[in-house]
Amino acid sequence: MATAQHDGLIQKARKLEEQALQELQALSSTRHCEEFRVKYLGRKGQLAQLLDGLQALAPDQRAEAGRLLNALKEMLTAKLEQRLAEFAHIEKEARLRAEALDVTLPGRRQKLGSLHLITQVTKELEDIFVRLGFEVVSGPEIETDYYNFEALNIPKDHPARDDWDSFYLDGFDDLLLRTHTSPVQIRVMQQRRPPVKVVCSGKCFRRDATDATHSPVFHQIEMLWVDKGINFAHLKGTILAFLEEFYGKGFEARFVGDYFPFTEPSIQVHVRRKGTEKWLEILGAGMVDPAVLQEVDYDPEEYTGFAFGLGVERMAMLKYGVDDIRTFYQNDMRFLEAF
Ligand code: PHE
Repeated sequence: MATAQHDGLIQKARKLEEQALQELQALSSTRHCEEFRVKYLGRKGQLAQLLDGLQALAPDQRAEAGRLLNALKEMLTAKLEQRLAEFAHIEKEARLRAEALDVTLPGRRQKLGSLHLITQVTKELEDIFVRLGFEVVSGPEIETDYYNFEALNIPKDHPARDDWDSFYLDGFDDLLLRTHTSPVQIRVMQQRRPPVKVVCSGKCFRRDATDATHSPVFHQIEMLWVDKGINFAHLKGTILAFLEEFYGKGFEARFVGDYFPFTEPSIQVHVRRKGTEKWLEILGAGMVDPAVLQEVDYDPEEYTGFAFGLGVERMAMLKYGVDDIRTFYQNDMRFLEAF
């Protein structure tokens, strides 16, 4: 009886071997290998079932059949590993082929962005001032009443405050968005002794109604030069030099009297393209008022200086023929890409 079982088991093992070897040959992927493993070598697989059958055999037959089954298991495992290694190799090759970059393909050109015209013009102007010997400085966009007005000789209730309609910060009586870059003059002079020769660019904010030449946010460049013996000729010479450098020969400038509490005398400068009618006011300027020098403990008997603040948008509008300041902020790609 036991012998019949033994023989049956051996026969089944042979059949299994034959079938498994055939299937091994036919395997075609790592996934199929896994299915094969489960079917033959898994915990509930065909070989495990045959091993269960050992229990019914006589001890000596069990040992012999056991060795046979174990040898079969080892053989199948080894062959399966071999096939797996083959597929791993093939599949890796395929993956690498699929991911391969053909570096000989022609490139596709990506359009580069460009700096906004305001940024370009600001840099260009700063560069001109640096060549004229000015140092680039900066200051905060949120200012105190003191720096934006008071230290610039514009006390509270001074009617000149009407010239700078301001955005105050909710809940802070003393804080506002700076209405001009002139407060940087005070900040720099407080920190240094003369000579001071600086230029500063940045955003300014005013509660102006928006129109073709006014925007509630705009950009200024502030210039300040204080030293012994600075006079109005320095102011005029510097302004004419940088205007010619920026605009070239095709433009002309005129100086018109003006009033600013922090300069005396004060002027504004208009520029137009030669041969055209309309002047555009592009900057305010003047000799630094002695009261401002005193405020920062500079002796007005010893030192004099001049300052100006120019509107970057307006400078750009004239040079590039932009006739509406709002165009700078609408981010129309056709406008942005034109420069
Ligand atoms: N801060 C002035 C303005 O914005 C311009 C200015 C600067 C005038 C420096 C004189 C000197 O209107």
